[in-house]
Amino acid sequence: MERQVKDYFDLTGKVAIITGGAGLLGRKHAEAIAEAGGIPVIADIDSSGATQACQDISKRYQLDCLGVITDITRRQSIEQLLTQVLEHYKRVDILINNAAHNPKVEATGITETEWSRFENFPLDVWQGDMMVGLTGVFLCCQVIGSAMAARGGGVILNIASDLAVIAPDQRIYRKEGLADDNQPVKPVTYSVIKSGLIGLTRYLATYWADKNVRVNAISPGGVYNGQSEEFVQKLTNLIPMGRMAHVDEYKGAVLFLVSEASSYMTGGNLIIEGGRTVW
Ligand SMILES: NC(=O)c1ccc[n+]([C@@H]2O[C@H](COP(=O)([O-])OP(=O)(O)OC[C@H]3O[C@@H](n4cnc5c(N)ncnc54)[C@H](O)[C@@H]3O)[C@@H](O)[C@H]2O)c1
Repeated sequence: MERQVKDYFDLTGKVAIITGGAGLLGRKHAEAIAEAGGIPVIADIDSSGATQACQDISKRYQLDCLGVITDITRRQSIEQLLTQVLEHYKRVDILINNAAHNPKVEATGITETEWSRFENFPLDVWQGDMMVGLTGVFLCCQVIGSAMAARGGGVILNIASDLAVIAPDQRIYRKEGLADDNQPVKPVTYSVIKSGLIGLTRYLATYWADKNVRVNAISPGGVYNGQSEEFVQKLTNLIPMGRMAHVDEYKGAVLFLVSEASSYMTGGNLIIEGGRTVW
């Protein structure tokens, strides 16, 4: 029988590694995989978070889910992850590079001091952010992507940000009562890392095009997660659709990009941000 369009979204039997899968969006990527019949592998440095996320998914979808404690800044840790996945499932089809340092506006203390300002930005924070957000992705692609290429195919999805496409509007992070040179800002590393991921996406898309490994990126806008009313107001003023994203709102795009539904797409960057970059 001829395949129907919904068949292109089917992930039955496909194994997907999600780095940072215990986090806010990583769990949603794992749900998207599970809902399409795939097997999510949650690879996260947070051991209790990875175990909990896996238990929740197994229970909710009645399927196998593997949680593997992984530090993506260490090549050996990624090699162990791959070995464990291959032992369990004999295959890996999808890699979602999602883990990153993502300082939350809603968490107190993170962007409340002057440390985030470019002039004062500490070298060790720069290096720590780079290690996870860029070097970690490079290592995951090198270890897991190379295995896919050797096996004859696979899909890589890099999670970037609308801040890969536009500069942060630092006015939205301002706190009343602080001097200008003490105002918190979105860290420089965030822009550099997310822009770098788009370059890595294009590089690998062409590098592995003849190996049947497709590599794409998604650039999501900010997710509502209990941020202050003032911050939400300032941010949504910059968004034509007038709101932040719901946490579930990227699942459809993630499924599109990791499934056969996007079979003719590689090196692309799907921008989903309520129109923010269009203004
Ligand atoms: N939340 C948003 O509004 C938003 C918007 C656009 C893009 N993004 C991007 O989406 C991705 C997920 O964001 P989030 O909000 O879910 O972040 P999060 O902080 O909730 O989750 C990140 C996860 O990565 C894990 N992690 C950190 N270092 C690691 C390491 N060395 N090895 C393995 N895992 C590690 C953490 O333990 C955590 O579970 C990030 O790349 C972020 O930049 C988020």
